[in-house]
Amino acid sequence: MRRPIIAGNWKMNNTASEAVELVKQLKPLVKDANCDVVVCVPAIDIPVVKKAIYGSKIRLGAQNVHFAEKGAYTGEISANMLKEYGVQYVIIGHSERRQYFGETDETVNKRTLAALAAGLTPIVCIGESLEEREGGLTEKVLDRQIGLDFQGVEDFSKIVIAYEPIWAIGTGRTATDEQANETIGYIRKRMKRVYAGKKVGRMRIQYGGSMNAKNCKGLMAQPEIDGGLIGGASLKAADFATIVNFDK
Ligand code: 13P
Repeated sequence: MRRPIIAGNWKMNNTASEAVELVKQLKPLVKDANCDVVVCVPAIDIPVVKKAIYGSKIRLGAQNVHFAEKGAYTGEISANMLKEYGVQYVIIGHSERRQYFGETDETVNKRTLAALAAGLTPIVCIGESLEEREGGLTEKVLDRQIGLDFQGVEDFSKIVIAYEPIWAIGTGRTATDEQANETIGYIRKRMKRVYAGKKVGRMRIQYGGSMNAKNCKGLMAQPEIDGGLIGGASLKAADFATIVNFDK
């Protein structure tokens, strides 16, 4: 069985003091969680959040990682730097990074391999735009991302995929339970074919895009959906906790 994983993507929100306050509120609310609970925080919040989550079920995630071990890459952060602060997960290839920061399938692939090499669990984001969905191109886009973003990965049990349809991110327009389930089922089937023999069956696939305290139960009840990557709703302790406790 695949253990559910609920991860918050704080994006560029929460100063260090706000981060500590949010985690303080969250801790007691998620103490009985039956899933993996992760907060992916801005890099500069990592040291304080590491301390704040101590003794809780909350695990620490970052929102990006560079692919080189070290060197002349001004402004970037390496996998080993994250590791030393107890970071266990890292979001890679979020659509906002692809859209605003020149992230490509090639750099997503390189970051994914670097994260794995350092022992971090990559949460790799894939998904189609509204134009692509309406143009009937969803599977074609996913096939491209599946083919390119994971080249060279040998053990998919160490990877999490977040299926995030771009049209559902921050828009309040969620994919229906059936749409999300069907597309995630497609991703799993395709991955099994492309990466046969590499433990794809144990890889977890999250849904992301306007997932919230109200719609989480329906989404999480779908057999293909192993968790959620939560943006806006992860910034409020009560809402995020409701999602974490989807099974109660
Ligand atoms: P929202 O939950 O705010 O739509 O964001 C989803 C997301 O992009 C998570 O990575």
